[in-house]
Amino acid sequence: MGHKHTVLDLKGRKGARLVMLTAYDAPTARLGVAGGVDMLLVGDSLGMAVLGYDSTVPVTMADMLHHTKAARRGAPGAFIVADLPFLSYATVELALGNAASFMKDAGADSVKLEGGAEVAPIVQALVRAGIPVMGHLGLTPQTASALGGFKLQARDEDGGRRLLADTGALEQAGCWSVVLEMVPAPLAKLVTSRTAMPTIGIGAGPDCDGQVLVYNDLVGISAPDFRPKFLKRYAETGEAMRTAIEHYAAEVRGGRYPDEAHSFGMNADLLRRIESG
Ligand code: KIV
Repeated sequence: MGHKHTVLDLKGRKGARLVMLTAYDAPTARLGVAGGVDMLLVGDSLGMAVLGYDSTVPVTMADMLHHTKAARRGAPGAFIVADLPFLSYATVELALGNAASFMKDAGADSVKLEGGAEVAPIVQALVRAGIPVMGHLGLTPQTASALGGFKLQARDEDGGRRLLADTGALEQAGCWSVVLEMVPAPLAKLVTSRTAMPTIGIGAGPDCDGQVLVYNDLVGISAPDFRPKFLKRYAETGEAMRTAIEHYAAEVRGGRYPDEAHSFGMNADLLRRIESG
């Protein structure tokens, strides 16, 4: 990430295979930038990735602001998208106030919200106020239980048509891009070909304009049994971390750490003087 991207740069790179990664704090944001991603997402996956919840529903604006500020401190030059959490955009007033906090207090460059035609008036109000909005369709984790759980969406004709219509509604309302989560790859390809917004896929096949993954999943520190078909764990960092902690514990217990190389010395005369009072 050489210079700081703008919404216009990123929108202009439709078809260019954009790379987005979640970040929740300064070190993960710094690593994302060092790894060369195009943009960071402070996702409300924060709930599961960091806060120990089993869904995104309990995540609050206070949580999101706290972590977006931390990510911004770790990556001052990054393009950062912040997720509006569950019910934080239930009305235009709420959405404007909360999105303003992300932009003004936490240094976000865009907000993201979930939903299709039903959130178009909210998107319109935010965009009119000058706030860039990324949409999120397909599996929308904030309402996953209403969608029947974490499973592939838009599998039938109605669902497919609805996905196309919702993408159109978000584009009309002014979204600059849209996440497509857990939808069949050929349908994501069709949606991508029908919209001027860059589509960012997760579990939506190779033909979206970009991809996003959750940091913890990519580096292998999420629950070992969390293995959805779309997920590629690029490293097993969690294993390396556990091994490091085991070595530390063993060396402390065995009297091997800290050794001389990891301790501060002192002039012997000085020590004697202190000793003798
Ligand atoms: O919260 C999140 O991390 C997300 C991505 C999975 C797109 O919304």
